[in-house]
This record gives sequence, structure tokens and C-alpha cells, in this order.
Amino acid sequence: MNHHHPLASRMTSVLATGQRPSRLQRRGRYTPESMRHPGKMLPAIAATVINAFTHPGDLVIDPMCGIGTTLIEAIHLDRDAAGMEYEPHFVHLTLDNVRHAHHQGATGRAQLISGDARNIAVVYGVLRGRAALVLTSPPYGARTHGHIRSGRDNGGGKVIKRHHRYSADRGNLAHQPLTGLLEGFGRILAGSATLLRPGGVVAVTIRPIRIKGELTDLPGRIIETAQRHGLTLVGRHAALLAGLRDGGLVNRASFFQMLETRRARDRGIPACAIAHEDLLVFQPTLGLEEARR
Ligand SMILES: C[S@@+](CC[C@H](N)C(=O)[O-])C[C@H]1O[C@@H](n2cnc3c(N)ncnc32)[C@H](O)[C@@H]1O
Repeated sequence: MNHHHPLASRMTSVLATGQRPSRLQRRGRYTPESMRHPGKMLPAIAATVINAFTHPGDLVIDPMCGIGTTLIEAIHLDRDAAGMEYEPHFVHLTLDNVRHAHHQGATGRAQLISGDARNIAVVYGVLRGRAALVLTSPPYGARTHGHIRSGRDNGGGKVIKRHHRYSADRGNLAHQPLTGLLEGFGRILAGSATLLRPGGVVAVTIRPIRIKGELTDLPGRIIETAQRHGLTLVGRHAALLAGLRDGGLVNRASFFQMLETRRARDRGIPACAIAHEDLLVFQPTLGLEEARR
């Protein structure tokens, strides 16, 4: 648990963020087109983190905002939000979601820029020193995302994987090999940290992945990367993707995740379906923060 931040005492090590399936968390709150995005953050994760680390009126930033989950949950909670997203079609989906949220009575203001967040410190230079929270999630391998239609719901046909790729452009970090992704994400974290106000935090959600069957400690790699870019880990939580009911977990893993897990076990790899994301909380490394001012 994070003992450095006054609001973080409200956070437990395990966060019950999967009580409702993702589809139900979004229903009526996000446009149906938003479901096209291959790797969205659970709205309950965004809302929990925003509540824990910010107050109404504060500024929340997501440098890789996808269809805008961080922004939407922030403005519904009366925080202001700023986002960046590389893919123009996701920017449009975020704008639609912001409009929809305002129609539903969201009171926060949102701003959005389409572009490469490796330049966020310059692009959002006017927000330097203003954000209470940066909340984001890197794209980690288009292969691991997507929506699956199985024989169960397409009338017995073969498995079809849809919406599982971002554009082919290499500026989208989803297309970089792991080292390129980490290097780009490190620059985005460092740039975003310049927008933090004193006491502000950077929160990253991330889960371990298998690359060619090999379990990769992506959270560990993100922690190392953040440290190299002037951030210190001050909190680590498990944000549940599964539900909690009657003392047990309600599995919400997709058909594809279950299939992959079963295949791995058939090959003798002791895989389990992943039921949580790591939520990593960072603050600028002491000394570096002072040096910046
Ligand atoms: C894991 S997704 C984030 C999803 C978001 N949290 C949501 O709930 O919609 C990562 C996003 O980063 C975007 N991205 C990739 N490279 C980028 C870059 N260089 N600058 C800004 N955004 C980028 C991708 O297009 C993708 O939408």
C-alpha cells in the first residue's frame, strides 16, 4: 500500500473493480462504438484510482487515452481531464464519449489532442505542474487484445478474432517490440510527470503477458522503466478483473483467454487465466522533482 499519499490510505491492496462485467460497466455510459477498441481499462479501475488520488476540481491526465475511459470517469466525478491519443479514430470515439457524458450531466471539462504522447511535455506545456493524477495503460501487444466470437455465438462457425489490431503505424507503440514499447512508454511517463503538481501521482495499469508461451513480468519491466525515467514506485495494488461473490472469484476471462490458457496447460505450461491487473503508483523521485522546479 502507498503510505506517501494522503488519499492513498483509502486504497486496499486488492481492489474489487470487477464486480460487474466490463460490458455492463460501460452500458449506457459509453457509446456502443467504443467497444471497437481492443484494450480498454475497466471503468471501475479508473473511478477507484481517481477517487483515491484526487478531489473534485483537480486535473487528471491520460497520455494514451484510447476511447477515453480515464477522461470519462474523471468528468463524471467532477474532475477536469486532458487526454492524448495517437489514433485519430479513437480520438473521435473519445470525443463522442465526452459529449455523451456531458449529456448525462458530467460536470468536469475535458480536452483532447491527437498525437504522439512521447511529446506530451511540449504539446501540453500549458498544463505543466497542474495535474493531480496521470492515469494510463500502455498498449502491450495487439495479439493479446480483442473480442472473440466463438462457435457458441456465431452459429457454430470457426473462431473469429475482431478488432484486435491498432493501425499498422509504428508510431503506435502497440507495434513496437517489447524494448521499443518500454523505451517509448518511458518517454511518455517522463513527459507526463512534468505535468504533475507537487504531490501528484502517476498510476499505470498493466498485466503480465505471455510472449511465445513465456510469462513476461511486464509490471516489473514497467517499474524498472519508470525508475529509469525519474519515477519511484510508491504503491502496488491488484485491481480485480474477476468479481468477488460468496467468498470466491467470479471468472470474467474471455473465451479467447480461456482457450489460450487451456492450450498452454495442454503443453505442460502451468498457466492460469489472469484475473487482475497490476496498478502501479509512482511519484517523481525525490531530488529530481526539486531539481525540475
Ligand atoms: C491500452 S490502450 C489505452 C486504453 C484506454 N485506457 C481506454 O480505456 O480506452 C493504449 C492506447 O495507446 C495508444 N497509443 C499507442 N502509441 C501511442 C503514442 N505514441 N501516443 C499516444 N497514444 C498512443 C493506442 O492507440 C491505444 O489506444
